[in-house]
Amino acid sequence: MATAVLGMQWGDEGKGKITHLLARDAAIVVRFNGGPNAGHTVIDRGVKFGTHQVPAGAFYPGTVSVLASGMVIDIRVLREEYDAISAHLGSRPEIIIAENAHLILPYHRLLEELEGSGKAIGTTRRGIGPAYRDRAARVGIRAGDLLAPDRLQARLEQRIDLLKRAWPGVPGVSALDPEKMATELIDVAAPFLPSIGDAAGAIRAALSRGEEVLFEGAQGTLLDVDFGTYPYVTSSSTTFAGLPGAIGVPNPRIERRIGVAKAYTTRVGAGPFPAEIGGELGEKLQKMGGEFGVTTGRPRRCGWLDLVGLRHAVALNDPTELAITKLDVLSGLDEIKVCRAYRIDGEETIRFPLSVEDLSRCTPVYTTLTGWGEELRSVRSPDGLPRAARDYLEFISDELGVPIGIVSVGPEPDATISLL
Ligand code: GDP
Ligand code: IMO
Ligand code: MG
Repeated sequence: MATAVLGMQWGDEGKGKITHLLARDAAIVVRFNGGPNAGHTVIDRGVKFGTHQVPAGAFYPGTVSVLASGMVIDIRVLREEYDAISAHLGSRPEIIIAENAHLILPYHRLLEELEGSGKAIGTTRRGIGPAYRDRAARVGIRAGDLLAPDRLQARLEQRIDLLKRAWPGVPGVSALDPEKMATELIDVAAPFLPSIGDAAGAIRAALSRGEEVLFEGAQGTLLDVDFGTYPYVTSSSTTFAGLPGAIGVPNPRIERRIGVAKAYTTRVGAGPFPAEIGGELGEKLQKMGGEFGVTTGRPRRCGWLDLVGLRHAVALNDPTELAITKLDVLSGLDEIKVCRAYRIDGEETIRFPLSVEDLSRCTPVYTTLTGWGEELRSVRSPDGLPRAARDYLEFISDELGVPIGIVSVGPEPDATISLL
């Protein structure tokens, strides 16, 4: 059976924990979008990892990890995380890298700085936007190019020549040397060269054999390049709607689609956030939830659960169930608010606007629910949850029309309650 795990908010919903948990039974785990902008926290046998590009399947010997063509891959970052995971396991996980996945190269990060997009949008500054842009502009370098050193160098020469013409006299650009870059890339990529190949074929074969295939989404629905809060988004498709194209399998028939949502909302980087909580309470939530970015260490903005955004995410992901994470963080609040609609120009709406100009004019319409005082970290069954926590979950599920299959009450794998 195939399963997909997708973020329903602005990222950092706890996808890493959920995929790591489900990957135990998987034959193959596939990351299909984004690159090292992702930071997925995995606690494997007591050791905490922040993974960026390697899917959570890599923690189980015998499971194949696939980096699909929808990703942009930074080989240097990959080498670091792969080596760290290998040292932890005492063996080297099997991986497949799509030959047609694009590479993030040093000049992509440089471009992000030179153009200032990192600052304006509050990106992770990992070169994501420039790498996807090179893909669309047909001047990108792909993983398969690493297998043909002459071709790699010729492509780098062409690309760097364009950069030097666009940025004459800029020191970081003038210093770019295609020959040196090609040599360094092949050197860093050496352990992965035998792994570069037909990822789409491997996924298709596993699906048609009926194996357990797990898809690990990165970022979240509201960061989707088309359906998110553009331009305050990432540069790839982050939804189930975009998954088939990102893996090269037209109808992957994924029976279990898990939409992961935090019990409240967070966002890193700039952009409108109607249910944001300012002041002391916002800071308290940030502290209680440990809301600091895995990739950049930036504090995450915190807000109440936003059903308007989540309804939009339900439409784009068609989840068969929800995983609600970090419910434990809400313990100790007398009241919990949920944004059930927006008010814009005096009118109430439950439609999530695609224009950030409209979104920034929206104010939240809240419903207030009763909180609970009990600690939830050691709860392991639905019956162990306080009545108010169960009511909160039921309210979310009813409003969204999607059952809740998993509730997470702590970062560790066993701090999980199964509901279905
Ligand atoms: P991802 O990007 O979606 O994988 O999420 P991140 O790893 O960036 O952020 C989630 C953070 O919350 C990490 O620090 C996790 O260890 C932590 N976490 C995940 N689930 C829970 C939970 O149920 N309760 C608490 N308290 N922390 C959690
Ligand atoms: P995971 O997979 C949270 C955000 C950045 C910025 C915007 C664009 O850990 O949930 P980019 O570097 O992609 O060009 O930045 O997207 N962003 C994330 N926010 N979690 C992520 O990944 C993110 N990946 C990108 O903060 O607002
Ligand atoms: Mg994250």
